[in-house]
Amino acid sequence: MIATEHRYCQENARVFKTRVESVETLTEDLFILNLVGFPEGFDPKPGMFLHLKVSPDEHPLLRRPFSIQSFRQGVAAILIRVVGSGSRILHHLQPGDEVDTLGPLGTTFPRIEKGDSVLMVGGGVGVAPLVACCHDASQEAQVDFCFGVRSRAEVQGIEGFSDSKNPIQVHLSSDDGSVGYQGFCTDIASRLLEEKTYTKVFTCGPWIMMAKAARLAQKKNIPFFASLEVQMGCGLGACLACVYETPEGDFIRSCIDGPVVDGHQVVWERT
Ligand SMILES: Cc1cc2nc3c(=O)[nH]c(=O)nc-3n(C[C@H](O)[C@H](O)[C@H](O)COP(=O)(O)OP(=O)(O)OC[C@H]3O[C@@H](n4cnc5c(N)ncnc54)[C@H](O)[C@@H]3O)c2cc1C
Ligand code: FES
Repeated sequence: MIATEHRYCQENARVFKTRVESVETLTEDLFILNLVGFPEGFDPKPGMFLHLKVSPDEHPLLRRPFSIQSFRQGVAAILIRVVGSGSRILHHLQPGDEVDTLGPLGTTFPRIEKGDSVLMVGGGVGVAPLVACCHDASQEAQVDFCFGVRSRAEVQGIEGFSDSKNPIQVHLSSDDGSVGYQGFCTDIASRLLEEKTYTKVFTCGPWIMMAKAARLAQKKNIPFFASLEVQMGCGLGACLACVYETPEGDFIRSCIDGPVVDGHQVVWERT
């Protein structure tokens, strides 16, 4: 039921302390947290996430999951939107602060191989695991990356496009028209799907955007992979905080059966 091609066990996950190298503020509610101090052999694949205990205090008690946008020269870059207490604490961390870290966790996107032609649909911080896929892609693959933001300021600092040697075409869209096409990135994806042939579609971002991408991929019958950023508890398959329903009525744990899943096996319509 869930695509096995990208399945991953949590067997390499460990708990360890990382250190903040820097915090780069992009907009008033968006920033990049750069972490260092990973154990030897730490080798996250695109789509995997870190489960961070944002504070040594009791509150917030639960860890918070964040995708790894890049892991290079021992530095993990994490793109974070401030939405509540946990992400706000992370935004105020200082260089040298320690972060209790669990990872790497979760399933991965399939590698983009030679001859692949991949359509990516990413919105907001959902761009992070897709950027990781671009870093990892074969240079003999082709990628159209439809990336939706609220405004131009959110594009700045999102690394991974300009320094990538792979033939990656970025198609920007924004809510306010300050950069790229004014409208939804799914509008661009829809047009591209009429013009070109793709071997896979990848998505990550707001649920409504992923649901639209799902309908597009289904119409063309293209393999479709989605990273589900649902709320999590333990991150290890024990608490059932992260379940979602498959079309067969089964319940799947997003933390260990995902976050990257076969997007054709998700009930996208929410009541
Ligand atoms: C696998 C995975 C990868 C993720 N990667 C990133 C990332 O790269 N960057 C990033 O900014 N965020 C990412 N998230 C979402 C991130 O984990 C949450 O935004 C974060 O936990 C919020 O913590 P908080 O304490 O700031 O907010 P809380 O106080 O916990 O919540 C604030 C509000 O946001 C809502 N909320 C919290 N989490 C989610 C969620 N996952 N989906 C929808 N609504 C939510 C709550 O219901 C509440 O209304 C990811 C989530 C998952 C599961
Ligand atoms: S977060 Fe606990 S089972 Fe998935």
